[in-house]
Amino acid sequence: MRTLDENTITDAVLEQTASTPDARLKQVMASLVRHLHAFARDVDLTPDEWLAGIRFLTEVGQKCTPFRQEFILLSDTLGFSSLVNALHDRRATESCTKSSLLGPFYRQDAPVMKLGESIVSKTSAPQICVYGKVVDSSGKGIPDAVVQVWEPDETGNYDLQRHDPSEMDLRGCFRTDSDGRYYFRAVCPLGYMIPMDGPVGNMIRAQGRHGYRPAHIHFLIGASGYREVVTALYISGDDHIESDTVFGVSESLITTVKGGDPASPLPNLASLRYDFQLAVLSPHEFSGKVGADPSQIIKKSR
Ligand code: BEZ
Ligand code: FE
Repeated sequence: MRTLDENTITDAVLEQTASTPDARLKQVMASLVRHLHAFARDVDLTPDEWLAGIRFLTEVGQKCTPFRQEFILLSDTLGFSSLVNALHDRRATESCTKSSLLGPFYRQDAPVMKLGESIVSKTSAPQICVYGKVVDSSGKGIPDAVVQVWEPDETGNYDLQRHDPSEMDLRGCFRTDSDGRYYFRAVCPLGYMIPMDGPVGNMIRAQGRHGYRPAHIHFLIGASGYREVVTALYISGDDHIESDTVFGVSESLITTVKGGDPASPLPNLASLRYDFQLAVLSPHEFSGKVGADPSQIIKKSR
């Protein structure tokens, strides 16, 4: 019988789990165990701290509903979602638009709309035109690409946070035209604080962080034969663009809302223009989403 101590315990776990038939599960779990054990040794974790961690993760789970995903929020605020996005981007075989966070407010089944329609139904804030193309790696327009979009209102709240959460607002699903063009009406987004009324908010406060995201509009873009892109456009000049709480901003995703753009399909409105580039789908690739509609993770309301 081997004596288990703070070092030999790791090998004991790895040996017992070596029987895992699924090779990928075996690799992922073995690495997780090695890193988790190394973390505990590194900080010399005490029983009280271990229990505080268990309590925290329990609260994170208890905060989840079909309309709220506190675990995704935790992953986002630890930079983990952005890391997984960056690893996903690195697997592309052609140049493409960088990923950004899907976040906890994505809903599948957003209303299908025609080009030029407004995603806004419940606010009278001034509207802007968001337009551009979905192109391939050579710059050629991709027809019939699906462009899903969602954004917060002028007070920095998503529909899920403001109304009966089963009602949708500030979301839409468009198809590009035969040249790969898309355009729609939206509101100019405002930066906002991530949901701070749960355990993740407590963590953010304990760390002395501000909790803000800079103003942005989310996009999920897909087309047959291409890699799905989950991304967001960030509005230049926002106070928190350099210190996003969830590490979603990349230089190439920063845009400007301009007045008087003659190229805009709705030239009377201020406009935001961006062309999204999709790479071809590599073999064995599936979803690019780091996240999901919360209702798809938890099916039953509490
Ligand atoms: C969002 O942009 O919707 C978001 C992303 C991560 C955490 C909170 C919100
Ligand atoms: Fe957002």
